[in-house]
Amino acid sequence: MAFSSKGLGLGLLAMASILQQAAARAAHAETSLKGVELPNRTIRVGSQLISVQWSPDGANLVSGSTDTMVRVWDAATGTCLQTLTGHKQKVSSVAYSPDGTHVVSGSWDATLKVWDAITGRCVQTLTGHDKAVASVAYSPDGSKIVSGSYDNTIKVWDARSGECLRTLTDHSFIYCVAYSPDGAHIISGNSNKTVKMWDVATGALLETFAGHAMAVSSVAYSPDGAHVMSGSWDGTIKVWDAASGTCLQTLTCGVLSSVNSVAYSPDGANFISGSEDGIIKVWDAGSGTCMQELNSHAGNVTSVAYSPYGAQILSGSNDEYSQGTIIIWYAPVKLQSFV
Ligand SMILES: *[C@@H]1O[C@H](CO)[C@@H](O)[C@H](O)[C@H]1NC(C)=O
Ligand SMILES: *[C@@H]1O[C@H](CO)[C@@H](O)[C@H](O)[C@H]1NC(C)=O
Ligand SMILES: *[C@@H]1O[C@H](CO)[C@@H](O)[C@H](O)[C@H]1NC(C)=O
Repeated sequence: MAFSSKGLGLGLLAMASILQQAAARAAHAETSLKGVELPNRTIRVGSQLISVQWSPDGANLVSGSTDTMVRVWDAATGTCLQTLTGHKQKVSSVAYSPDGTHVVSGSWDATLKVWDAITGRCVQTLTGHDKAVASVAYSPDGSKIVSGSYDNTIKVWDARSGECLRTLTDHSFIYCVAYSPDGAHIISGNSNKTVKMWDVATGALLETFAGHAMAVSSVAYSPDGAHVMSGSWDGTIKVWDAASGTCLQTLTCGVLSSVNSVAYSPDGANFISGSEDGIIKVWDAGSGTCMQELNSHAGNVTSVAYSPYGAQILSGSNDEYSQGTIIIWYAPVKLQSFV
């Protein structure tokens, strides 16, 4: 009897302590929302930055820059953890594998490199493109890598063996590639103003989305796969119906300012764009309204991304004054609730 009542007492004590801790955390979170913000973190890269992405767990960032380096950063401290050397020309595009164990980079030296994310060792060099590689991405299951190149082709690679599985041929420079969330399709954007959708299994061209007035620099699928978004040098973003190819929205981002990068939030409610005028815009995906402008970069925002859970935004700039800057924006939390 005594034993069990003591056990119960300890249980209640432990429970009370857990509740107290939870209350303290909730209070802290509320204070943060009431205006005590974390500072936006600025990381100086030391080289013009072209591409930056989160690791799937949000702990690290990977960047690619004009000095041929791939760098891994601690997202919480902004410390450079690794500098991955091996590319012979500037690095145009970087991405983490979905399980976070590898990083892929594409370079103007016409190769892709796959790196062990823990050791920083280059485990594969993928050769086959004849000109600069402009864009790289992993398939959602991590088994394949897609690349787009100035040699007018898109290549699908086996992520493990490095074998080229398929070459899709276009007629103009490929600036951007992305996988559909189900892994069945690839979208690409080219210098001839169009977005194309390809079937991964057959290599068939399924759809051509025409309407931009200049080159397409960036493409993204909505998380539910229903929409395709494209950013262009013409200063607009277009949202397309993935199934029919109909243009649903045309959003003007900047006058005479190329859009360099677009990304959906993980829940699909928002998207962000980065452009040559140095401005990051946060958009409401449903209405196409611009909800916020983030304007701290000195120029040319080349890369934007949402953190894995969507609370933070990552941006990179290749402006010449700062020699490449990454900013993690802590402020834009749950923007949709302010609409
Ligand atoms: C972070 O940047 C946003 C957008 O410019 C701004 O509203 C916010 O005040 C900044 N936070 C801090 C702590 O500087
Ligand atoms: C460029 O796009 C237009 C319109 O889609 C098409 O008619 C033309 O053949 C394309 N040119 C090349 C070189 O692919
Ligand atoms: C901005 O960056 C993009 C992507 O790297 C590049 O194509 C463009 O020329 C740059 N623009 C300026 C004004 O530096």
